[in-house]
Amino acid sequence: MLYPSDAPASAELFDRASEVIPGGVNSPVRAFRSVGGTPRFMASGHGAYLTDVDGREYVDLICSWGPLLHGHAHPAIVDAVTKAAQKGTSFGTPTENEVLLAEEIIRRTPAQQIRLVNSGTEATMSAIRLARGFTNRSLVVKFAGCYHGHVDSLLAEAGSGVATLAIPETRGVTQTQTAETVVLPYNDAAALEELFAQRGDEIACVITEAAPGNMGVVPPVSGFNQKIRAVTAAHGALMISDEVMTGFRASIGGWHELDQVDADLYTFGKVMGGGLPAAAFGGRADVMALLAPAGPVYQAGTLSGNPLATAAGLANLQLSTPEAYQQIASTSSELQGMTASALYAAGVPHKIQTAGTMFSVFLFGEGQEPVNVTDYEQARTQSAERFSAFFNEMLTRGVYLPPSGYECWFVSSAHDEKALERIDAALPYAASAAAAVGYDHG
Ligand SMILES: Cc1ncc(COP(=O)(O)O)c(C=O)c1O
Repeated sequence: MLYPSDAPASAELFDRASEVIPGGVNSPVRAFRSVGGTPRFMASGHGAYLTDVDGREYVDLICSWGPLLHGHAHPAIVDAVTKAAQKGTSFGTPTENEVLLAEEIIRRTPAQQIRLVNSGTEATMSAIRLARGFTNRSLVVKFAGCYHGHVDSLLAEAGSGVATLAIPETRGVTQTQTAETVVLPYNDAAALEELFAQRGDEIACVITEAAPGNMGVVPPVSGFNQKIRAVTAAHGALMISDEVMTGFRASIGGWHELDQVDADLYTFGKVMGGGLPAAAFGGRADVMALLAPAGPVYQAGTLSGNPLATAAGLANLQLSTPEAYQQIASTSSELQGMTASALYAAGVPHKIQTAGTMFSVFLFGEGQEPVNVTDYEQARTQSAERFSAFFNEMLTRGVYLPPSGYECWFVSSAHDEKALERIDAALPYAASAAAAVGYDHG
């Protein structure tokens, strides 16, 4: 399989989109800015495959950036959403499925109470407001390379699209907001301790990706999450574990299942929405008790707990059995193995890093030592040019990777041997294309 490098129908739509939508996309990571070329406009998805408006089929390794743990248009999810839609799309009142979804999340995680929202951004924004309300402090600590959505105070040195586009600072975020955020290097326990020693009584919370996947996958070094737990507890600050990406994706219980550090608050999204807009934050009952209408911290949403989204989320979680995670884990390792083999064979220095079933691939420049990436600074030593060559070769061979070396590769239970065979056939060409890019690190 070899598709042409141009994509006329996508290009036409992209031209029209660029007239009416800034940059032609509704979320920056969808643009092909760092890999070049035209973003593909998708017409449909089935199982492990996407079909674009030029009629080309791709094995999808984005899975909507994580949510689609069981592939596109899974019959059980389509059925649940269809049945829900037939009963009404939104009531603006409580519904039973909201209770069921909150109960299911609580069963799988240490959270004692859950508030449903529509996006991961809303979840982290609300969790931070709640932490500030609970502690009566204003300072928020985050780590470089972690992405928590586009919350003003959390965009500093953020991963994901901010890293991909190398945006040094986001205009529109005020100095006051920046002054209330401290950014530390990830996995640096000494820096964390030092900050708390100096300003511990000003800190409302430390927010961390449970296992970061937005600077590529950079899991916490052993004991780092425990350190955050201990230091925050000692100084009366809260720990917010952002499981928007890892939740019900890294494993059945998210990252917490694999690294059992109890945070005060958690944020969830992606898989728990089954491909529809649903997210949540939750945690200690005494902290959640401060939320309106029970308490004085206001938080609300017209479409929060939307019937279609809760139906999709419940169906997605019901499919997410221990056996399904085993299968996804084995697909994930098979894919890692074939990717590593192709890159070794082509002589491309690389590092594959995992967090449960999540993984990403760092490609390095010619002669560069493939380091164990433990923070954002190291993540930035990867070769964007090599990734771009690799990405584009995979695309023309019918494999859709995330268009950035800072993103995770996501698989689903729908990725079967046939899908893996197509990827395996494409990999040697992509690895050779990457190898052909000379030394470019700098
Ligand atoms: C860890 C993490 N937190 C928060 C978010 C923001 O979620 P959303 O894009 O739904 O606002 C993301 C999105 O990728 C994420 O990966």
